[in-house]
Amino acid sequence: MNRAEAVSYLLRDQPKDPKRDEGVYFAPANIALCKYWGKRNSELNLPYNSSLSISLQQYGAKTMIRPHADRFNRIRLNGQVVDNETSFAQKITAYLALFNMCSVTNYSVDTEINIPVGAGLASSACGFAALAGALGRLYDWELPKSTLSILGRLGSGSASRSFWHGFVEWQAGESADGMDSFGIPLTHLWPELRIGLLIFNTLAKPVSSREAMALTVATSPFYSLWPAKQNADLVRIKEAIATHNFNQLAETAEHNALTMHALMLTATPPILYSLPETLQGMKEVWHCRQRGVPVYFTQDAGPNLKLLFLAKDLPAVLASFPSLQVIAPFEGRDVA
Ligand code: DP6
Repeated sequence: MNRAEAVSYLLRDQPKDPKRDEGVYFAPANIALCKYWGKRNSELNLPYNSSLSISLQQYGAKTMIRPHADRFNRIRLNGQVVDNETSFAQKITAYLALFNMCSVTNYSVDTEINIPVGAGLASSACGFAALAGALGRLYDWELPKSTLSILGRLGSGSASRSFWHGFVEWQAGESADGMDSFGIPLTHLWPELRIGLLIFNTLAKPVSSREAMALTVATSPFYSLWPAKQNADLVRIKEAIATHNFNQLAETAEHNALTMHALMLTATPPILYSLPETLQGMKEVWHCRQRGVPVYFTQDAGPNLKLLFLAKDLPAVLASFPSLQVIAPFEGRDVA
């Protein structure tokens, strides 16, 4: 099954003509505490392992989609028209082409993303989730969120986790067509948890996570160790969430991220997303812990760090990281 066949199958009983003038959808960005790194099927973005993330509350993508009476799609990001030749526009165009069983041929897509794009801050996750959700609103598809999650996954794997707030597990699934590979929200709330964005560089990454993942799987002599480590970390993280054991959660997440980046260094050619500032930031986090402040980090496919800590430690964390952008993922929520 290819991506277009998966979309046709998922939408087999759904309207193919727009039911309103526009569809609008907001999807939060998500940060993986237990990472997705390696695909068993790269056409369908099917992972070897399950992963688990925390959503970033109000930070994410809001997309408005409308039919566009032109020969091309018109794509706008944060109010600016994006040249159709850019890889950003081409990815969106290729994704929209998967929905060619629908009556609209071209769309106008307006996306507002309030986190830096392409810098390892999960912009593709929330971007594809918002796009799939906006299409669903335009056509009035009555789909369970698990199906929307599959549609998002076909754009970018991590998008499967961006349809909910709070903690979300993306279960890897086993079937070849990926129909059992989608996000599932965890019901646990953790109001004291804080995420801090430590942004060193907002330029687009030199190597996409897609390429980096494929290279790691194909060339790292240590990749075979990853699935077992990942499964064990997932169990520890879920247990820590259920028991509100912050140190277990954050220590496991930090080690998971460091292991993923260590694997990348052993790929050929090696992949290094960190900048000198990233390493400086890591050392500062470790110094904080030595001074008794429980703060940890995670890192994705970019140089920026995301800090994990509890609300009570905010003053101490800010003293070491004054520029930190702080997010309270559960603020104002009684359900995920
Ligand atoms: C390091 O979801 O961007 O952020 O499926 O190829 O689009 P594609 O990859 P993507 O990879 C995300 C990698 C990560 C870890 C994670 O979010 O789990």
